Amino acid sequence: MIDLRSDTVTRPTAGMRQAIAEAEVGDDVYGEDPTVNALEAEVAELFGHEAALFTPTGSMANQIALQLVAPRGTELLCDADAHVVTYETGAAAALGGISTRTWPAVGAAIDADQVAAMVRPDGYHAVPTTAIAVEQTHNRGGGGVIPLATLRELRRIADGAGLRLHCDGARIWHAHAADGVPLKEYGALFDTLSVCLSKGLGAPVGSLVIGSAERIAAGRVIRKRLGGGMRQAGVLAAAGRYALKHHLGRLADDHARAARLAEELAPFGVVAGAVRTNIVPLDLTKAPYDAPTIAAAARKDGVLVSVLGPRTARLVTHLDLDDSAVDRAIEVLTRVARGA
Ligand SMILES: Cc1ncc(COP(=O)(O)O)c(C=O)c1O
Repeated sequence: MIDLRSDTVTRPTAGMRQAIAEAEVGDDVYGEDPTVNALEAEVAELFGHEAALFTPTGSMANQIALQLVAPRGTELLCDADAHVVTYETGAAAALGGISTRTWPAVGAAIDADQVAAMVRPDGYHAVPTTAIAVEQTHNRGGGGVIPLATLRELRRIADGAGLRLHCDGARIWHAHAADGVPLKEYGALFDTLSVCLSKGLGAPVGSLVIGSAERIAAGRVIRKRLGGGMRQAGVLAAAGRYALKHHLGRLADDHARAARLAEELAPFGVVAGAVRTNIVPLDLTKAPYDAPTIAAAARKDGVLVSVLGPRTARLVTHLDLDDSAVDRAIEVLTRVARGA
């Protein structure tokens, strides 16, 4: 099977499995796992922050960060398609007591003035805005990269209104690879970031929350409350450290393969928008077939794609796909699109 559904489907490489096998471990709830401690220090340093906290998932990392930046009974502003309000089962409200208000789904093309106009100050009956969250790269926004100038503008707005800025950076590595913006430059713009090791970087498990030492100490308590205090988690952190060392530098290959998919499939009218990173959105609104039909036909020929809506599908390139897999996917999807 050539699995283009997501970059989360990768399996640990032989080298990564060896790093897992050799990991030094301890009880991380006591703060005694040397491999977790090393990973947390390395990731904090990468983004120029004081501290980081290892979590099992990106969703938990996001929700810890949101609780850190938006106190109960206050409001978070984000995109209508943001992962934090679309795919995290209402956790901001259910667990954090956080109200969310969204700007229209625009992916990475954020209008900072529109965000500024949404900010509500504390006052009679109002839910005060305390934080803004952005997603870099934007998952439902086709892997789009928010320009640095927009992020700087949002930082200026947040500072002016006394708000905190969070980045869901599950795939911030891809933004760094696509735009060449140093990770530290991204780090300097946000109060908190979440990053994932289990997406494009190819680790089986693991994310981190990044921020000040004080915030991360508070985040450690929230993580335990959420049931995320892990014991000998060094076996997982070792995979993450290996991924950062060996897989960060190869993301441009995934981007080139995604660009080739987009180019080759464009004549069939199935690809919408410019592909910047490893996600290729398929817009089938004008096609004579819908997304489930395409996905079912492709599956018969050994190619898996994600169905995101009746007329929206998605292809994602990753570590487990090489050029020949992409060639084969183009061949199958081209045939399927002609015959569907
Ligand atoms: C942008 C974004 N944020 C957060 C997550 C959550 O990660 P997890 O599946 O590890 O909870 C994902 C998952 O795909 C994602 O795409």
